[in-house]
Amino acid sequence: MRKLWPRSLFGLNLLLLLGLALVVMVCSVAAYIQMQRPRVIELGSLVAGQVNTLDSVLSQIAPANRENVIQHINQADQIVVHDQLPPGKRHIPRAPLIQLFVDTIHQELKPNIDYRWLGDTDARLWVNLNIAGQRSWVSLPVSQVPQPHRLLTRGLLLLIIIASVAVLLAFVLQRRLNRPLQQIAAAVHKLELGGRPEKLPEYTTTELALLSHQFNAMVESLDAMESNRAIMLAGISHDIRTPLTKLRLGLEMSNLQGNKELYRYLRQIDTIIDQFLEYGRSGNSEPEFTGDLNVLIQQLAAEFEGRDIMFALVLNPLPETAFQPVAMQRVLRNLMENAVKYAGGSELVITSYCQQHQLYIEVADRGPGISQDKISLMLRPFERGEAARTGVDGTGLGLAIAEALMRRQGGSLQLLPRAGGGLTAQVILPLRNTAQISRD
Ligand SMILES: Nc1ncnc2c1ncn2[C@@H]1O[C@H](COP(=O)(O)OP(=O)(O)OP(=O)(O)O)[C@@H](O)[C@H]1O
Ligand SMILES: [Mg+2]
Repeated sequence: MRKLWPRSLFGLNLLLLLGLALVVMVCSVAAYIQMQRPRVIELGSLVAGQVNTLDSVLSQIAPANRENVIQHINQADQIVVHDQLPPGKRHIPRAPLIQLFVDTIHQELKPNIDYRWLGDTDARLWVNLNIAGQRSWVSLPVSQVPQPHRLLTRGLLLLIIIASVAVLLAFVLQRRLNRPLQQIAAAVHKLELGGRPEKLPEYTTTELALLSHQFNAMVESLDAMESNRAIMLAGISHDIRTPLTKLRLGLEMSNLQGNKELYRYLRQIDTIIDQFLEYGRSGNSEPEFTGDLNVLIQQLAAEFEGRDIMFALVLNPLPETAFQPVAMQRVLRNLMENAVKYAGGSELVITSYCQQHQLYIEVADRGPGISQDKISLMLRPFERGEAARTGVDGTGLGLAIAEALMRRQGGSLQLLPRAGGGLTAQVILPLRNTAQISRD
């Protein structure tokens, strides 16, 4: 039974509406029968009265006129006179209105008049009348009594119409519910993976509107929490920096000056503090500058070249666009650092192009890449991959900072698998203040 119970909202709605349709149909038929009862009783009395009168009148006629009278009656196409009762189904249908009609006839017909109900489709009442002293069977049409088969056909037709309307209604209802539910599910999923879902629209259905309102409020409070966390981090990092500088000075003046290991630790702490501060600052805005992003890419590549790390550049002409130079530098540097850190510096390529009013910069490597289900997670602050945690230094903030900086400029950061292995970090910036030049 539980298996048959529908699981989807569509199925439940449909079941509810069909159930309702069935109840409506049964009630309509019951109400119809109830309303027809007085009419059927009246009809029964009328027919019984007419038959009684007919029997009295016909019994009075002279035997010589009998054939004439019978011929005369037979000419009227409604009434037929037979000597014998014709063969046919003799049961009285168990339909309530017909039984009521027959009961009325039974009560009101003279006791010496025999009667039969014959036929299912073309129902007729047969009465055994005295015509000139001899008994004959006279058939009277009783089609005014509501026939069960007609009631059944009409009921079925009604059910089919109501059921079709129910299916249509369930479908419309479902469509109204489906889209919002899918949007909400997608937003929750994005949140679960560490992304920042778009604001849900205010739906017209009250319950959904409440749900979307609460969800939006929750996302906003999560944002506020995140920015509080960033501010706190920046504050702590800032405060650590002062004693750290003093420590470095003390170290330089001590006999530990030559200890490279200690200096490496200090540099590591410095980098971590830098990233913390950066993350704290990633919510602040920086003035925009209009220029060619390819120039910035070339500068950064040259910087890495100085460290003997080669990035192959595939730079397509880009229109000048508005961007935040320091932020863009940080974004690209973080991505380039990751490519170097996690891919060991092989086959590093930076591609830039413009497509459909958007600028694309892709930093590609041949490292282990990031599996599809981990991508959103890696964009979260302090999340680091397994390999990174065991081998390479880092705070897990680089991608979170890059993503926040891109979002602040109206752009985005995507991490995609690179064809042939590795990762492609794709930065997308909407083109502003300029005409579009397409790559293809
Ligand atoms: N190019 C890449 N190839 C493979 N994995 C990567 C790549 N870039 C990032 N990752 C994974 O994503 C994680 C998060 O990267 P993210 O840059 O945010 O932090 P991090 O590099 O660990 O530290 P840092 O704050 O110093 O950048 C990394 O720990 C690593 O596991
Ligand atoms: Mg990094």
